[in-house]
Amino acid sequence: MMRPMKLAGSKLMFGEGCLAFLSQLGAKKAAIVIGGHSMERSGNLDRVKKILEDECVNISVIKDVEPDPCFETVLRGAKEMIAFEPDTIIALGGGSVMDAAKTMWIYYEHPELKKIEDILPPNTFPKLRNKAQFVCIPSTAGTASEVSRSVVISDSTGMKHGIGNMEMMPDVAICDPEITMTMPSHITAETGLDALTHALEALASTRANYLTDILATQAAIDIINNLPRACKDGKDIKVREKMLNASMVAGLAFTNVSLGIVHSMAHTLGSYFHTSHGLSDAIILPYVIKYNSEKSPKAKSIYDNFVKALGKKGPLEDIISALNEEVNIPKDFSSIVKDRKAYLAKLDEMTICAKADGCTKTNPVIPELNQFKELFLMVYPEK
Ligand SMILES: [Fe+2]
Repeated sequence: MMRPMKLAGSKLMFGEGCLAFLSQLGAKKAAIVIGGHSMERSGNLDRVKKILEDECVNISVIKDVEPDPCFETVLRGAKEMIAFEPDTIIALGGGSVMDAAKTMWIYYEHPELKKIEDILPPNTFPKLRNKAQFVCIPSTAGTASEVSRSVVISDSTGMKHGIGNMEMMPDVAICDPEITMTMPSHITAETGLDALTHALEALASTRANYLTDILATQAAIDIINNLPRACKDGKDIKVREKMLNASMVAGLAFTNVSLGIVHSMAHTLGSYFHTSHGLSDAIILPYVIKYNSEKSPKAKSIYDNFVKALGKKGPLEDIISALNEEVNIPKDFSSIVKDRKAYLAKLDEMTICAKADGCTKTNPVIPELNQFKELFLMVYPEK
């Protein structure tokens, strides 16, 4: 039997100017969570504050969420929230900020929880929304954390934990393309390819269904058709809007039917070598599409049908490789993880980690350990 679908939280806003919806949140005290200084420099933080201040909302800003947020940052933010007592939490930033803010929300609502293990199985996931509603305003078009039930948080050893529960679905997602206008070209490329990976892995997922196929197909088409322009001309708001909407729609699909081994491998490489998530997905994606096509006739026919819907010809992995090249994504990890010896030394551990990743079980074919090893070697070949 299929799992029940949930398409975003209670309110989903998208399109130019929808940031104004902040005035209708009914907030009295809002904690705004941001990352480094990009939201301050771009003026986006001030725009958000102005709309809230016009409604006499009392504001506290929680700053300095780092990329690949760690659990200590989550506890720091939760502590600030416990002191401020917001009725509304607003995450303003990319995937790291949204994931950290979602997790801060859990520990704010439940100060009795102290450790990351407290929200991991076999513990019961806590109920939220007793103290605050949760709002996401994405500044990148990629992770779709604004409509997803999941977060990725690193523990004190640097190991990344992917945690998923529908309780964490943000109540309000405000996807205004103006917020993404200042995103640099390489971040546009990496996050856009993360979104494309979400769409294509949802499409090939063993849990894929009629509705997620519709969402994932159109999202992938829009990303492939718009990403090069978004990278070349970040000031074209219509292209930014297409990318942000497509990322969000890919999120609606994947959060319901999960992903595949591109994400298992990217999570693993992120844990062991701190490679950026979007860039890792982008590099791995064509290799895994080829692998899945060779091992699973069903996956091959899904990819072939998608290429037809896209109006192109040839194997999907070639189309993705050409797109990667156009937006300056390297072909392999040699320029990213410089020490190949260190990479090889971790190969056995990485294969075990990738096989155990939660995304592996919905890949169209489940690789054996030696096949994962081959895939890790393919994405970083000897030269
Ligand atoms: Fe992702």
